[in-house]
Amino acid sequence: MDKFVIEGGHPLKGVIPVSGAKNAALPVLAATLLTADEVTLDRIPKVRDIRTMAKLLESVGAEVKPNNGGYAVRVTEVTSAEAPYELVKTMRASSLVLGPLVARCGEARVSMPGGCAIGARPINLHLTGLEKLGAKISQEHGYVRAHAPNGLTGAVIHFDRVTVTGTEDLLMAAVLAKGETVIENAAREPEVSDLADLLTKMGARIEGAGTSTIQVEGVAELHGATHAIIPDRIEAGTFLIAGALMGDPLTVDGVNTEHIAALIDKMRQAGVEFSFPSEDRIEVRASGKLRAVDLATKEYPGFATDMQAQFLAMMTQAEGESEIIETIFENRFMHVSELLRMGADIAIEGNRATVRGKTELSGARVMASDLRASASLVIAALAARGETVIDRVYHIDRGYERIEEKLSGVGAQIHRAE
Ligand code: EPU
Repeated sequence: MDKFVIEGGHPLKGVIPVSGAKNAALPVLAATLLTADEVTLDRIPKVRDIRTMAKLLESVGAEVKPNNGGYAVRVTEVTSAEAPYELVKTMRASSLVLGPLVARCGEARVSMPGGCAIGARPINLHLTGLEKLGAKISQEHGYVRAHAPNGLTGAVIHFDRVTVTGTEDLLMAAVLAKGETVIENAAREPEVSDLADLLTKMGARIEGAGTSTIQVEGVAELHGATHAIIPDRIEAGTFLIAGALMGDPLTVDGVNTEHIAALIDKMRQAGVEFSFPSEDRIEVRASGKLRAVDLATKEYPGFATDMQAQFLAMMTQAEGESEIIETIFENRFMHVSELLRMGADIAIEGNRATVRGKTELSGARVMASDLRASASLVIAALAARGETVIDRVYHIDRGYERIEEKLSGVGAQIHRAE
């Protein structure tokens, strides 16, 4: 298993590029199942979850070819409507093929995702939504089967709580359903809008994506299209936080600033200063003087749960006490025990972490537990005194493209070891 070895305390200076968004690329790849034509996708990030999704598409009959740094995908025929356990167990977002497979061939079998490091993460809302569209749902041998031999029919789907992949799954099912579907309490994340943009290019009729109510008028079939994935707002945010601690200055290149407005707002409250040399570039410099601020994670446009761990790492370097509340997942403080080993002062009570700063961090051996927790450990290691060794970096490889190369390109002392 690979490790990262990081020598902390080196300034980050120069331009660091942002890749395409993993969480936008995953649903967009699943959407290629909705047509027999070729779909060309640009700016697909080279990360492990994307390779898993490509394998999953191939296992159901897709031809996935590399194309100008992205992919060209063609699913002439779905040869097997099943997402096997071996793939789903490594990536919960595999459930994104459920909606498009039932819509395309009236049938889907997807292994039930188990729990994961950050919480139970059930898919009940995806299933009740598909039932509303007329699919019969059954479960056996660890698999969920959705069956709609005569096709899906539009309906009103009201989500009891906001779910990102649930909204995406149902949107993909609804575009080929007969008649109108209304998705209420839909997720407003930019990744949902990006998916809707691709589907619209493929011939779907969608209104309201990016708001809480999405309306879909089903069409008989979709056709091929070309689409470039939006920039990864979580990767961009991770680099901005690294820059707030060590930037001299650090310029993050290829950002959609609107997508990270809540993060920029919180970072400003903490005393971070930004400049915007161009529309898609943000420059940040470490001032050494950060203030503690409180935050609670929220659905978009609120503060993203996927940025909580990295922000918490930054708060260990701020003066004062900050209270960080996680409202989306029940177990998303796995990074805290590792940060304590590096010298942080953090207390957890339920879904609330109290961070007391500023504490000097010192390098230690730590363990990556999930994707964003790992990113917070990289940030802490960059700011710490001495050497940090992060074990199990396969977690970070799931969602950050060549992070060690990008960071060494701006002066970090980081390398990968086996
Ligand atoms: N939930 C249910 N039932 C469902 C679906 C969700 O109870 O059927 C609950 C979840 O357990 C969770 C909450 O609703 O407590 C929100 O979950 P959501 O469905 O929105 O999460 P997701 O779609 O599984 C996506 C991202 C996550 C990100 C969350 C929240 C992808 C592929 N994954 O997950 O990204 O944290 O939205 O924004 O888009 C990551 O990239 O590190 C990551 C975990």
